[in-house]
Amino acid sequence: QVSAQILAFFSLLLLAAQRKEIDAVLEPFLLSPETLREVKNKMRTELEYGLKRETQGSATVKMLPTYVCGTPDGTEKGKFLALDLGGTNFRVLLVKIRSGRRKSVRMYNKIFAIPLEIMQGTGEELFDHIVHCIADFLEYMGIKGARLPLGFTFSFPCKQASIDKGTLVGWTKGFKATDCEGEDVVDMLREAIKRRNEFDLDIVAVVNDTVGTMMTCGYEDPNCEIGLIAGTGSNVCYMEDMKNIEIVEGNEGKMCINTEWGGFGDNGCIDNIRTEYDKEVDEGSLNPGKQRYEKMTSGMYLGEIVRQILIDLTKRGLLFRGQISESLRKRGIFETKFLSQIESDRLALLQVRQILQQLGLDSTCEDSIIVKEVCGAVSRRAAQLCGAGLAAIVEKKRENRGVEHLQITVGVDGTLYKLHPHFSRVLQETVKELAPWCDVTFMLSEDGSGKGAALITAVAKRLRNIDKYLYAMRLSDETLIDIMARFRREMKNGLSRDFNPTATVKMLPTFVRSIPDGSEKGDFIALDLGGSYFRILRVKVSHEKKQTVQMESEIYNTPEDIMHGSGTRLFDHVAECLGDFMEKQQIKDKKLPVGFTFSFPCRQSKLDEGVLITWTKRFKASGVEGADVVKLLNRAIKKRGDYDADIMAVVNDTVGTMMTCGFDDQRCEVGLIIGTGTNACYMEEMRHIDLVEGDEGRMCINTEWGAFGDDGSLEDIRTEFDREIDRGSLNPGKQLFEKMVSGLYMGELVRLILVKMAKEGLLFEGRITPELLTKGKFETKHVSAIEKSKEGLSKAKDILTRLGVEPSHEDCVAVQHVCTIVSFRSANLVAATLGAILCQLRDNKGVGRLRTTVGVDGSLYKMHPQYARRLHKTTRRLVPDSDVRFLLSESGSGKGAAMVTAVAYRLAEQHRGG
Ligand code: BG6
Ligand code: BG6
Ligand code: GLC
Ligand code: GLC
Repeated sequence: QVSAQILAFFSLLLLAAQRKEIDAVLEPFLLSPETLREVKNKMRTELEYGLKRETQGSATVKMLPTYVCGTPDGTEKGKFLALDLGGTNFRVLLVKIRSGRRKSVRMYNKIFAIPLEIMQGTGEELFDHIVHCIADFLEYMGIKGARLPLGFTFSFPCKQASIDKGTLVGWTKGFKATDCEGEDVVDMLREAIKRRNEFDLDIVAVVNDTVGTMMTCGYEDPNCEIGLIAGTGSNVCYMEDMKNIEIVEGNEGKMCINTEWGGFGDNGCIDNIRTEYDKEVDEGSLNPGKQRYEKMTSGMYLGEIVRQILIDLTKRGLLFRGQISESLRKRGIFETKFLSQIESDRLALLQVRQILQQLGLDSTCEDSIIVKEVCGAVSRRAAQLCGAGLAAIVEKKRENRGVEHLQITVGVDGTLYKLHPHFSRVLQETVKELAPWCDVTFMLSEDGSGKGAALITAVAKRLRNIDKYLYAMRLSDETLIDIMARFRREMKNGLSRDFNPTATVKMLPTFVRSIPDGSEKGDFIALDLGGSYFRILRVKVSHEKKQTVQMESEIYNTPEDIMHGSGTRLFDHVAECLGDFMEKQQIKDKKLPVGFTFSFPCRQSKLDEGVLITWTKRFKASGVEGADVVKLLNRAIKKRGDYDADIMAVVNDTVGTMMTCGFDDQRCEVGLIIGTGTNACYMEEMRHIDLVEGDEGRMCINTEWGAFGDDGSLEDIRTEFDREIDRGSLNPGKQLFEKMVSGLYMGELVRLILVKMAKEGLLFEGRITPELLTKGKFETKHVSAIEKSKEGLSKAKDILTRLGVEPSHEDCVAVQHVCTIVSFRSANLVAATLGAILCQLRDNKGVGRLRTTVGVDGSLYKMHPQYARRLHKTTRRLVPDSDVRFLLSESGSGKGAAMVTAVAYRLAEQHRGG
């Protein structure tokens, strides 16, 4: 307080004219509340641009995905190496993390210098130097032989495609080494380690300092979802909802976004508040025109702005007796620490003069007052601008959470924030002012980014082990596009007369020529055999004013010994159930038309004939393959003699589904099943169907895509687990695509993976239980439960506990990850084959953009919490020039089968009548 008075006193001594001129120079540094609000709003706009696919390329705030998907949960453990490059100090650290009740982090670190000529030399020199320092540290700690996992804090903008890859977008701050921009810095580090050939490291994660800081603070406070750096540079990261990050796949959960807000204003949007001094500083920097916001807010530049102002004031004769000294000409003399000292309230003017003296600036008392004032204006503006930016982030978080009042913690680090006497206060006041509905706690990071980087490394290593394990199951878009092309060829072969006999994808004509047109009516029976349930339905379609459908149905058991016994027994069973149903409906005396949904591949030469090509899924009754199922069923009914039935149509479940959905949406021309099995049908042009006479109009083709790959064409993407599933199935060597995709196999696929991982000690601490070893114990419905976004982990715990293993939290996370990989692969594969069908439809119609509806059914699609969304998203990505509506079939294939039967019945009646 005393010094403030002295300051006031001396200020009076300044000549009024001088005073006026100095005020005029500093005036542009005073930002009104409106201006700050405007900055906040502009920042908010830029954040959105950076997140959107279309605007992201030209956005100045780059919003880089970091592939860090959660904050620490206390289960992290292990021994890690961390590098921390890009701030004031370059550090190498050893971090030991203990989990559980005695959770703790111990760190050992050493600071190394990076000479200027290396910061601005060649990339190879820079990375060789880094590796030299690591070697020194390992030696010093006596751990040269251990191949430790490493987390690399690299405080520059990096484009990441995974946690362990980071392509340098552009150097910022004081670095400018050649041949690094556009390169993967992890590769560069790896190569430098190889060149030295003295030790090896496992580079697991590359992390921005903001992210490291958020994680360091997040370890203590789970509410910390923002990381702020106000140091040499200026930047922020925060946890964003995946659904808002358009350039990254997936919609569930969150991912940390490194905003790189330092680039804010590079498009000129804050030029109205940039002063000539800011422009001067920019021009003299290593990256002119770039990082304009950073250059107004961070430690590396504030001193420079001050220096430019002082030069100007000296030129005007207001300072240093009008003499620009050698020292004042030196770039970078005002480091953050000097700035902080000069501005300290506790410092007497004499001491300020001493500091200036140290910097080689000979000052009078008046001079020192002016210098202090200039520093104050520059740093205050920096803190306010930073606060305005942060308010935009906080506001976005509040909107994401959909709350009126947000409580959030911001983890902060950086020399400016830590050392400057006023910066943090002004920053916090500004945030409060501009985001009054948010309660923001600022938490100073005590341990630097290294700790956070190690925590990230711990999680990444755990998941990477799984990813490495299941690497072959993670299909890139490139692979999917390739699969799409392969399937397109298969379709072509199946349709052609010459190739059909040897084609694996059979492309079966169904003799269904159109979707319902609204004129169907009558009273029908539908049988629905082949999915999870055997159903019999009565479907009444009436036509008063508008078409209405009334349905009643009954589910019948089909015991395994019947599915696997003789064909005669199976059809006797079907006939018996039908008799029971008619009895209940009191229609035993009627001869109602019957539509038979038979969800297996059948060759048809007309609607009411279906020769089973081969059993699939759960069925394996003898003597049916090669026979007409309509005849077999008729025979069984005749044998009973207690009722009669008129089987008018056999339809595949895909066809039934397409017809069911076509009833509600005339545009529906694809039927898709993702249930016990998987398959699709679609409306093909007659002229493309060699196997059926005639070129006019269209016919529905049952693709039987489950058999895709049976000729070895998917071997490159099948895994050992897929082969094991196949070996243990009822139909080895067949339906290979189906076995990678559908519900009958998915749970088992996960089980096989878990068993192997447990055997290798990657799960359950190596414990394997008899339940876990039992085929079928892990079901597809369990996969669905575990992938629920909220209760998923607790479900995992229940399910695994029931299998006799005592899972740790880590185990649950890992198992959830396995489930995600397996179910994601399934959705991706279906997107590829469906994509091929959509392309075929588009080409058939000769349109640039396809508009169509896909009718969908099946337990996996319906029950899995994420499946449908993933499928839709990938399909739209693979076939961008399309507007596809996915329509869930609400009433099963039975309704559609009745529609087909109605048309057949009408035609038959006309025939009889005519
Ligand atoms: C430290 C981090 O805590 O903060 C550094 O460990 C980071 O990596 C730094 O760059 C930011 O501060 P400064 O002031 O050193 O740039
Ligand atoms: C139903 C159909 O809607 O979907 C069945 O009526 C079909 O016949 C089924 O097989 C597919 O699903 P799931 O999961 O039962 O195999
Ligand atoms: C620079 C870097 C950024 C970093 C920040 C703070 O802005 O581009 O990645 O986070 O400085 O160190
Ligand atoms: C199997 C059958 C096929 C059916 C599909 C879905 O792939 O072969 O006909 O459509 O399962 O149930």
